[in-house]
Amino acid sequence: MSGAPPLVVVADPIDPDAVARLRTGPCRVLDGTAEGALAGALPDAWGLIVRSRTKVNADLIAKAPKLAFVARAGVGVDNVDLPAATARGIRVVNAPTAATASVAELSVGFYLMLARNLQARITATKGGTWVRSENGTELGGKTVGFVGFGRIAREIARRLGPFGVTIVAFDPFVSVPGEGVEMLSLEEVLARSDYVSLHAALTKENHHLLNADRIGRMKKGAYLINAARGALVDEEALADALDEGRVAGAALDVFEVEPPKATRLLAHPKVLATPHLAASTHEAQRRAGQQVVEEVLRALKGEPLQSLVNPEAGAPR
Ligand code: MLT
Repeated sequence: MSGAPPLVVVADPIDPDAVARLRTGPCRVLDGTAEGALAGALPDAWGLIVRSRTKVNADLIAKAPKLAFVARAGVGVDNVDLPAATARGIRVVNAPTAATASVAELSVGFYLMLARNLQARITATKGGTWVRSENGTELGGKTVGFVGFGRIAREIARRLGPFGVTIVAFDPFVSVPGEGVEMLSLEEVLARSDYVSLHAALTKENHHLLNADRIGRMKKGAYLINAARGALVDEEALADALDEGRVAGAALDVFEVEPPKATRLLAHPKVLATPHLAASTHEAQRRAGQQVVEEVLRALKGEPLQSLVNPEAGAPR
């Protein structure tokens, strides 16, 4: 690097203390969150810090000839075109542990709300209808099936264990599942689980992983929980299954298009919907900002990175 210090653009809002820490580094820092600011900064940008709003696609990358580093202040990197970044030698990092506890806590809340039919009961009670029957079931004794058994799923399993559930999981990348977890095929997980919880990354291969056929293989009356990515599920097929009572209910924090156009699902009385907020706690966002800023500073100092997503990008530039 020669001449002016490299420019790091903070394209989406992150923790202010993390930005302040970034400003102590050997770089120029630009707040690129205002309308039009990012586009103007791209020609000179060495680094980019994004959350999920900014799409680091091939078009953006082409407009940023000096771009060498992208930091995603979150877990999923599906808003970054990894092949395009890698082909240009742009290193991409994320904040893999920042949101684990927050997503796990929200998920446990989803399980309890679904089990006790709480959404309908709360709405009815506040609307003046006092119905004390149909109050659902206990979680104890039920089988919870994880599709994807990485860090977040394991944390949810650990927190659900004391409720007395049986844990089964499918994950082609996991060989050592941990005590008390039975690894099964995807079809077996779907057939055995009273609750199916999705925890896979969104890739081309995983698009509509839960399609009509697989939803049809779920145990009758099971529940679906998705706080991962909306496009893992065929939303129309899920709405059909809910209409027919094959799926008893769904808790969805994510949608294929956000904000969702899947009005059938949003309007469905058996769907509990939230606006992709699982990782949006103060603590998770603080950790995410801090983790990626430390990675940017390591990169600027030529130090080894801790959360490099695409090692194939090659040596630092
Ligand atoms: C993540 O991948 O970190 C979460 O889904 C939250 C987000 O997309 O910002």
